[in-house]
Amino acid sequence: MSNEQRTTLPPGKMPELRVLPMPADANIHGDVFGGWIMAQVDIAGSLPAARRANGRVATIAVNSFLFKHPVFIGDVLTFYADIVKVGKTSITVNVEVYAERNRLQAETVKVTEATLTYVATDEERKPRTLPVLD
Ligand SMILES: CC(C)(COP(=O)(O)OP(=O)(O)OC[C@H]1O[C@@H](n2cnc3c(N)ncnc32)[C@H](O)[C@@H]1OP(=O)(O)O)[C@@H](O)C(=O)NCCC(=O)NCCS
Repeated sequence: MSNEQRTTLPPGKMPELRVLPMPADANIHGDVFGGWIMAQVDIAGSLPAARRANGRVATIAVNSFLFKHPVFIGDVLTFYADIVKVGKTSITVNVEVYAERNRLQAETVKVTEATLTYVATDEERKPRTLPVLD
């Protein structure tokens, strides 16, 4: 690993997702397709948002998305998601993605970081005021 920043998975922190990209998730160059990573990030971010909303949410915005290092087929990806802002109906979540490369050697690299905003919605798909926390 030349210019990559090796790290470790955050100790004691619970991931929202762990997934192994397969050859069907590759781009034309054989590395993992960015759109596939974006979909996984959206899923990971939606989980704490839906818990906070106590119900359905819709993604309204991808505020930022950084693909800092490539992801390779066979990397084990771990997604962490933290709520960073809550409004009347919206929840903004920061998602960090780590890749464990060469699984036997356990090299870990933070590959992607993104911030997304979700809106709690009702049965008519309209914005819904977030429940008050106890
Ligand atoms: C989500 C949806 C119901 C929200 O309805 P809306 O009338 O556009 O929403 P509003 O303008 O009332 O804004 C709702 C919240 O989103 C926030 N918001 C709106 N635009 C935003 C943006 N560009 N970035 C971040 N937050 C935004 C508002 O500040 C508001 O938050 P608050 O209530 O906490 O203050 C509607 O936009 C929708 O259905 N979008 C499609 C969702 C979807 O299908 N997503 C999947 C990807 S295709």
